[in-house]
Amino acid sequence: MKISIIGAGNVGATLADRVLRERIGDVVLLDLVRDLARGKALDISDAAPLLGCENSIVGTADYENISNSDVVVITAGFPRKPGMSREDLISKNRNVVEAVLTGVKRFSPDAIVVVVTNPLDIMTFLAYEFMGRKRNRVFGMAGNLDTARFKAILSEELGAPAGSIETFVLGSHGDTMVPLVSRTTVSGKPLKEILKAEALKKILERTKKRGGEIVALLKSGSAYFSPSAACLEILKAIVNDEKKTIVCSSFMQGEYGIKGCAIGVPARIGKGGIEEIIEWDLPEEELCELQNSAKQVKDVLNQYAL
Ligand code: APR
Repeated sequence: MKISIIGAGNVGATLADRVLRERIGDVVLLDLVRDLARGKALDISDAAPLLGCENSIVGTADYENISNSDVVVITAGFPRKPGMSREDLISKNRNVVEAVLTGVKRFSPDAIVVVVTNPLDIMTFLAYEFMGRKRNRVFGMAGNLDTARFKAILSEELGAPAGSIETFVLGSHGDTMVPLVSRTTVSGKPLKEILKAEALKKILERTKKRGGEIVALLKSGSAYFSPSAACLEILKAIVNDEKKTIVCSSFMQGEYGIKGCAIGVPARIGKGGIEEIIEWDLPEEELCELQNSAKQVKDVLNQYAL
C-alpha cells in the first residue's frame, strides 16, 4: 500500500513513524515546508535498521510524489492554542485543506482520504464535497480518538484495564460528542451499575474536554500521540481489510435521522474505506444528543456558508 500523509507536523510525522513500525505500507510525507518533510522522513528512515522497519518513506513538498496513493491522510493545518475551540480554526484550516485537496484531486483522485485536520467534521464535509461526494472513500478520524479518551479516563478512574472496557463515542469531535453510556460495559458489567450519576457526569465532562486539557498543558500545539494512534487504527483496518467497526466522521444520508453534514458514527472499515454505516437502535436520549450534535455542526456550516 502507498500511504501519503499531508502535513509533516506533530500528527503527520508521528503517524508516519507508526505506519512504518507497523509495516503496513510505504509512506510519502508531504509538507508545505519541504525541508521539514525531508528532514523528518530521513530521521524516521534512519530508525528503520533499529526498529526492523522494511517500508520506504520519502519527504517532499511536491504533490506529484503522492500519485496513485491508496490512502491519503490530511493532517496539514493549524493546531489549537490554549483557550481556542476547534471552530476557531475554521478560516485558516479551510484554506489549507482546500489547497491540499487540489493536489490530492490532481494526483490521487481515487485514493481513500482520511481527514484529521480540525475542526474535524467541518473539514471532512469540505473534503467530501471537494472530492466528488464519495462518502465511502472520504471520511474523518476522531470518533475512535474520543472513544479511546473515554476508555483511558474510565480506566484511570475505575482502576480497570482499558481492554476490559467496551464503549463508543459518537457525534461531533467537540463539546457535543456523545459517549454511548448505554453501550458501555466494564468486564461485561453496564457502566451505569458501576458508577453513580454524579461521578459519571464528571467523567463525561472530562472526556469531552480532554483535547483542550492537553492543549492547555502543552501551551503550544495540540495532542498528537493519540490522534496518530487513532488514525493508525483506521489505516490498519483499510490495509488489512478488517471490516472493523470504528467510529468515523461520515457524511450522513438520513442514518440516525441526520442528513447533510459529516459526523461521527459507527462504520465498518475495510479495503473499500467505509463499507457500511452501522445504525444501532439507540435509546431516545442518546439519539437526541446525536441529532443535536449534528445540528450544531450544520449551524457552523451555515454560519460559514460552507
Ligand atoms: N500544505 C501542506 N502542509 C501544510 C500546509 C499546506 N497548505 N499548511 C500547513 N501545513 C503543515 C505545516 O507546515 C505543519 O508542518 O501542516 C503541519 C501541521 O503540523 P503541526 O503544526 O505540528 O500541527 P499538528 O499537531 O500536526 O496538527 C495538525 O491535526 O489534530 C489536528 O487540530 C490539529 O488541525 C490540526 C492538525
